[in-house]
Amino acid sequence: MIEVRNLVKNIASSHRQNAQKNGIAIIDNLELLIEQGQSASVQGASGCGKTTLLHLLSGLDHPCAGTLIVAKHAIHNYDETRLDYFRRHTIGIVFQQFHLLESLNVEDNIAFTARLAGNLDPHHINNLMQQLGIADMRNQRVTKLSGGEQQRVAIARALAHKPRVVFADEPTGNLDEHTSSAVSELLFSTCRALNTTLLLVTHSNDVAALADDAYHMTSGQLTKITPSLQKS
Ligand SMILES: Nc1ncnc2c1ncn2[C@@H]1O[C@H](COP(=O)(O)OP(=O)(O)OP(=O)(O)O)[C@@H](O)[C@H]1O
Ligand SMILES: [Mg+2]
Repeated sequence: MIEVRNLVKNIASSHRQNAQKNGIAIIDNLELLIEQGQSASVQGASGCGKTTLLHLLSGLDHPCAGTLIVAKHAIHNYDETRLDYFRRHTIGIVFQQFHLLESLNVEDNIAFTARLAGNLDPHHINNLMQQLGIADMRNQRVTKLSGGEQQRVAIARALAHKPRVVFADEPTGNLDEHTSSAVSELLFSTCRALNTTLLLVTHSNDVAALADDAYHMTSGQLTKITPSLQKS
């Protein structure tokens, strides 16, 4: 479950023209509720604060104000030690820029988070690699892969330790239309099977429509998109 109340994040005024003296609120009293095992998508213009929101919910960035509860962790109150434990065990993240470990091969990248979390299930990892079409590359260094292949490794890594919550930032941005739809369906179905909550940022209407709830981000807040407006 994810519960966000009155979330505020200001950025330094030098980053924007005409900013106010104390910076501007890139996240401005944002509210969000996703029940455990449910999914939500967020769309919005480039620079509106989508990645910032995922970083706040992952404990990688700190809010200026507000309540952030992720899988029963009130992370707005956490110090770095507790945030580190939370990130390792509770959540999986598909970063917009992947952040794979270049010195490791495909399988070791995927197993890395599961080893850290003490939750390594080789059968689960093998299934993920098979379903994502990267099993044949398991021994290859990730630097040898295409952007789309690296993206699938990043998705498998985020799911490898069966986290309670997954945050995915443009997880199909580098994939062609056919692969994008197969990979996003796998992401949603794996999360459903694990009863994992999924919050996904995407520019694709088709991917956004796979979520239980779809939101649009504007002026630092989320608005639920009605199904009729969501059709591409
Ligand atoms: N570390 C930072 N310090 C200050 N400002 C930042 C920082 N990171 C991002 N910003 C600013 O915050 C705003 C939101 O950035 P963010 O990366 O969250 O946008 P986004 O919605 O994810 O965009 P995109 O769709 O292009 O990925 C931008 O104006 C950006 O310049
Ligand atoms: Mg972004």
